Amino acid sequence: MTATSPRFGIWAVVHGSRGAYQHPDEPYDASWERNRDLVLAAEELGYDSTLIAQHTINPHIEDFDQLEAWSAAAAIAALTNRIEIIAAIKPYLYHPVVLAKMALGIENISRGRFALNLVNAWNRPELEKAGIGFAEHDDRYAYGREWISVVSRLIQGERLTYKGKHFDVRDYALRPASLYRKRPTIYVGGESEPARALVADHGDVWFINGQPVADVASLIADVAARPRTAAPLRFGLSAFVVARETSEQARAEHEHLLALAAKDAPMKAIQRQNTDPKVVMMQTMQKTPRVGTNGGTAAGLVGSYDEVAARISIFHAAGIELFMLQFQPFEAEMRRFAEEVIPRVRSAQAERAAQS
Ligand SMILES: Cc1cc2nc3c(=O)[nH]c(=O)nc-3n(C[C@H](O)[C@H](O)[C@H](O)COP(=O)(O)O)c2cc1C
Repeated sequence: MTATSPRFGIWAVVHGSRGAYQHPDEPYDASWERNRDLVLAAEELGYDSTLIAQHTINPHIEDFDQLEAWSAAAAIAALTNRIEIIAAIKPYLYHPVVLAKMALGIENISRGRFALNLVNAWNRPELEKAGIGFAEHDDRYAYGREWISVVSRLIQGERLTYKGKHFDVRDYALRPASLYRKRPTIYVGGESEPARALVADHGDVWFINGQPVADVASLIADVAARPRTAAPLRFGLSAFVVARETSEQARAEHEHLLALAAKDAPMKAIQRQNTDPKVVMMQTMQKTPRVGTNGGTAAGLVGSYDEVAARISIFHAAGIELFMLQFQPFEAEMRRFAEEVIPRVRSAQAERAAQS
């Protein structure tokens, strides 16, 4: 379905780990220094993108460290040269004029490599304890829709006058706008009906949680069929990779990680209590035991190097352009994937191109 080459990205470790919290080879570390070094290594290894999730408090254990997404994104932008930097944003946390200004700042620091990932919140205490309040699921999306319609016009340099239910912006223009392109890219994460409508109307790329390819294909078919005035939507997939020389080794490692992740059950129980039960993402994730966040190993990228490369090609043929990946221990496994799996995907692609 997609004509472009697959792109590969890494989730930054903003809350220390994307897998089990008690992995002996990945001590808890959500520091700026670790995240900086991780993204610099990813760029060096040839990764195309990084996603910096936004949580003002650690969504699993509130007293654990949590990296701040937007200040980290700006700093990473200044230190890197090629990699795309995507920072997540929950609309209730920032007025759209201020956020649009920040996005344009990072767009220009990164020389045209910045993107935002609009997410509409699931972790109740994050907003409630700040006194912001936690609106109902669809009301959060209605707010997010108004918010992004202000942000997307301001980040393309438009002089904006807007009056809606939540915002009243008069004769506002941000300078400089992007010095590199029309505006930063807009990703949207979320699976519910209002999330799908939102990305069709306002997004450039839809981030899908890790799940089997048939489910991903039907999600893509639903959203790709919606009317749109902008360029066709593109699609990204979140997934946790366990790749080894043989499928038996990969299966054994997956079992090992599942056993380690089981130790996090008390923490996961707190997370479930804090989660809005209407969030579709969490319902999807209850379906299969898995390692990783946002679907994790449910995407099936567990197997030999050849198997994982082949599954990536199948997802790509179904329309996934960007694979946003998680590993554990992150640094070592990210390197293994770059050395063993990406070349296999690229050579299979070159073979197919030569045949057609
Ligand atoms: C790739 C991806 C990244 C996400 N990043 C964040 C994030 O940084 N912070 C957050 O609170 N939620 C994040 N989410 C979760 C969305 O906020 C969640 O899907 C949202 O609450 C919408 O729920 P829905 O599935 O009911 O539409 C992410 C989701 C996806 C798919």
